[in-house]
Amino acid sequence: MFVETFAQPSPSKLLVYATLILLLCNHTFSLRHPVLTNVTDWRALLSIKSAISTNPEGSLPYWNNSVHYCRCRHPQRVIFLELETLGLDGFISAAIANLTFLRKIDLSGNQINGLIPHEIGRLRGLRYLNLSMNSLGGSVPSSVSHCSRLQVIGLSSNMLEGEIPSVLGNCLDLRILSLSNNHLEGKIPLSLTNLSFLDVLCLGSNDLSGEIPSLMGKLYRLTELDLSGNRLTGFIPASLWNLSALSQLNVADNYLLGVLPTNAGYSLTLLRKIYVYNNRFHGPIPMSLFNASTLEVVDFSSNRFIGEIPQNLGGLRKLRWLNLLDNQLELRKDEGWSFLTGLCNCTNLEKLQLGSNSLGGLLPNSIANLSTKLQILSMSDNEISGNIFHEIGNLVSLTVFDMGQNLLRGSIPAPIGLLTNLHVLDLGTNKLSGEVPSTLGNLTLLNSLHLGSNELSGMIPPNLGNCQNLISLNLSNNKLTGGIPKEILTISTLSIYLDLARNSLTGSLPAEVGSLKNLGEIDFSRNNLSGELPSSLGKCQVLKNLRISNNFIHGNISLALSTLRGMQELDLSQNNLSGQIPYVLQDFPFLYYINLSYNNFEGEVPRNGVFANASAVSVLGNNNLCGGNSMLQLPPCTFQSTWKKYWFATLSLIIAFGIIGVCLFLIFCWMQTPRKEPINIESIYVQGRISYAKLMRATNGFSADNLIGLGSFGAVYRGKIDDDDKDSMFRGMQIAVKVLNLQQHGASKSFTTECDVLKNMIHRNIIKILTTCSGVDSMGNDFKAIVYEFMANGSLESWLHPDVNEQGETKKLNFLQRINIAIDVASGLYRLHKGGEKPIIHCDIKPSNILLDEDMAACVSDLGLARGPVEALVRTSLHTINSYGFKGTIGYVAPDASAKLPSPLLPLGPLEWDGDGPKGSRGEGRQAR
Ligand SMILES: *[C@@H]1O[C@H](CO)[C@@H](O)[C@H](O)[C@H]1NC(C)=O
Ligand SMILES: *[C@@H]1O[C@H](CO)[C@@H](O)[C@H](O)[C@H]1NC(C)=O
Ligand SMILES: *[C@@H]1O[C@H](CO)[C@@H](O)[C@H](O)[C@H]1NC(C)=O
Ligand SMILES: *[C@@H]1O[C@H](CO)[C@@H](O)[C@H](O)[C@H]1NC(C)=O
Ligand SMILES: *[C@@H]1O[C@H](CO)[C@@H](O)[C@H](O)[C@H]1NC(C)=O
Ligand SMILES: *[C@@H]1O[C@H](CO)[C@@H](O)[C@H](O)[C@H]1NC(C)=O
Repeated sequence: MFVETFAQPSPSKLLVYATLILLLCNHTFSLRHPVLTNVTDWRALLSIKSAISTNPEGSLPYWNNSVHYCRCRHPQRVIFLELETLGLDGFISAAIANLTFLRKIDLSGNQINGLIPHEIGRLRGLRYLNLSMNSLGGSVPSSVSHCSRLQVIGLSSNMLEGEIPSVLGNCLDLRILSLSNNHLEGKIPLSLTNLSFLDVLCLGSNDLSGEIPSLMGKLYRLTELDLSGNRLTGFIPASLWNLSALSQLNVADNYLLGVLPTNAGYSLTLLRKIYVYNNRFHGPIPMSLFNASTLEVVDFSSNRFIGEIPQNLGGLRKLRWLNLLDNQLELRKDEGWSFLTGLCNCTNLEKLQLGSNSLGGLLPNSIANLSTKLQILSMSDNEISGNIFHEIGNLVSLTVFDMGQNLLRGSIPAPIGLLTNLHVLDLGTNKLSGEVPSTLGNLTLLNSLHLGSNELSGMIPPNLGNCQNLISLNLSNNKLTGGIPKEILTISTLSIYLDLARNSLTGSLPAEVGSLKNLGEIDFSRNNLSGELPSSLGKCQVLKNLRISNNFIHGNISLALSTLRGMQELDLSQNNLSGQIPYVLQDFPFLYYINLSYNNFEGEVPRNGVFANASAVSVLGNNNLCGGNSMLQLPPCTFQSTWKKYWFATLSLIIAFGIIGVCLFLIFCWMQTPRKEPINIESIYVQGRISYAKLMRATNGFSADNLIGLGSFGAVYRGKIDDDDKDSMFRGMQIAVKVLNLQQHGASKSFTTECDVLKNMIHRNIIKILTTCSGVDSMGNDFKAIVYEFMANGSLESWLHPDVNEQGETKKLNFLQRINIAIDVASGLYRLHKGGEKPIIHCDIKPSNILLDEDMAACVSDLGLARGPVEALVRTSLHTINSYGFKGTIGYVAPDASAKLPSPLLPLGPLEWDGDGPKGSRGEGRQAR
């Protein structure tokens, strides 16, 4: 009796299996379903089940016994075990051999490890065995050959070792033998040539050695032969070319050699794919191979084929891929290019790779008539001359256009901008002249643009900055002039290199270079750049190689470089840089080459890190350097130890006194007169309303990543207005956006209060409101938001009580900073109280509402609860503190101290103020971090 499982969608197949087991355990099902009463089979199933498990993802969607995938022809015996791609783990139990009626085992595409149990040889009825794509180790058990009715053996993509058992040659019914992608070694057993029914033989990607048995020509039914990726030597046996059923022949990536016979293709009339790449074949490519009109893929790359490219390609209507890269094919006369005219008839052509040969002559303009399906066109590293035609714009599917290292002349045609699918454009190392066409800015998918080593002139078109997917950009070694457009420095995807070296670029390095946060290599050397290194360069945190030699850069380098700890090579030679060589460079762990020669550096050369190795450092031609490694042969630094320390101490004292003096003076000034602020932010507030869409974009769709604070009145997001937002006066600005939760009672009122207060209060210690947004969001709901300046250093609270996981060292305020913050807050409050027509009282001053900007200047924020006039408030608070009162916190209350600090003078906690005050509990609507 038989049980046959018909499991349709693969994820549910284990269920079938599970159902089987459940059925076995529960005989009451026997009425509805014929049941496995064969005890051996259900025991075997149970023990198979206990050996495998599902991976953590879980692939048992319906583990219950009411789903009936199981159709049972004859109860009791299992004949199919179909459990492919279920994420199964564990090993194959030897008990599988007790399912003696099994005809099919498919456990492919799981993560099963361990060995293939040799007991499997007991399954005499087995016809199909597929254990591909698992992690099985050990050897192929020779006992498999006892399963003499096997038609399919699929063991590919495992970790099997040892030799291919020659006894497999006894499975005379075999149609498919797939052992590819393992670690099998030794020779291909001769016995396999006895498998006269064999249709598919895949032994690729192993470590097989020796020669291809010439008897393989006996396997006249073979349609697919894959011997690629081994260490096979010798010739391709002549008999192989007689396998007239072959549709796929793959001998690539071995050590095969010899000349392919001219008649190689005569019998192979059904050939669809032929791969012989990466061997040592020489001689001409046999024309006869191109007689098969069925050919789709031809890969002869990386051999030593000589002669011309076959001319008879035009008949290959199905040809998709022709790869002749890296051979010694020649093309001297222009007529030789007529093969290309033929190829224009191959309307399915997707890839044409002819690079690294010796193709000369003029590039024919028929190239533009190639299939519009063409995706890869690569002819680099030849001797092709002539122009690139305007018609190249026809090849609209191109993703790779690689014509580098040829002798092409003329200009780059503007229609190249029509190739909007391009990912790689390489025209480097030619003789192209004229300007870089601005249409290249239309190629927004471009990942790599290489136009280096030509004779291009003019400016770098700023709209290259539209290519926001560029990973590498090379315009080096041309005659480009003008400045470095800041637009190309905003391509934040640039990560491999930006090479503008050896041109005639002028101007200074734009500060936008700091946007290149993913970039590993910058080369601006040998230009005419001037100015200082922008300090923003320090934001390029993954920079490994920086070369700016041979320019006119001046100034100090410590600001720009001291944070670039990943630096490996640094070449700033031949500039006008000055000042001390930053000591911090000696702490850069990966720095192994540094060239600072021919500048005006002065003072002591560091001794450690890269500086300890004199051959890694060059400081020649800096006349005022001293000390350092003795191999550098610099004069010693005199008085350094005593004099310098004394000098620094004195200087620090003077500065400290100076600062205190200035502070006192400022306090004095503030107490004298309320100062008028020169900036008129009101005009901005009125003028620059911002749309919901822009805020949406700036905050990345109000993404959780940008959330910096959450409270009952709403959430605060950080954001950045687009750099190219031309209509916005806030272009490129860092902002904080408080989005009001309008469901919260009082939020709307708080919005109005805050806007009113801030609109009239312009002071450097009161948070600046940039604009507001009042409209409808994408869901059609009312939307109100206030946009503030972004305060880079977060709230005072985060400094006073840093989170445990934040780096404790950096989050410390020194005495001077504390004083300054206190003064700032006092100034801000003073301005609120005394500055306007009516006094305003903040009502919720606490560390979390004091924000610190980049320079640690403090601003009072969160004025949603502010009230005025002060007199009324003070009166109220003194007399009826319990019936009226305040929302929020009055006075400074450290968060952890508030619970144990009951003080009648400092009313704490959520007290209600009078009737029209905001109701509901006050959240921590803060803008911090
Ligand atoms: C498999 O069968 C053998 C004997 O035929 C028995 O000894 C063994 O216990 C069985 N194993 C399982 C797991 O059922
Ligand atoms: C079994 O799973 C199926 C599929 O999810 C579900 O429809 C059915 O209700 C389940 N039966 C029981 C008894 O849980
Ligand atoms: C084995 O199974 C895999 C995927 O489950 C399939 O791709 C492959 O063709 C099968 N092998 C054979 C020889 O049938
Ligand atoms: C192939 O089969 C023949 C007859 O069945 C046998 O004599 C011979 O040894 C086999 N060849 C190999 C290499 O196993
Ligand atoms: C290309 O096709 C045209 C028209 O179908 C035909 O005349 C020409 O001979 C073909 N060229 C080649 C090289 O097959
Ligand atoms: C391509 O770029 C040019 C100039 O940069 C521009 O005028 C043209 O509109 C762009 N074409 C497309 C389709 O974007």
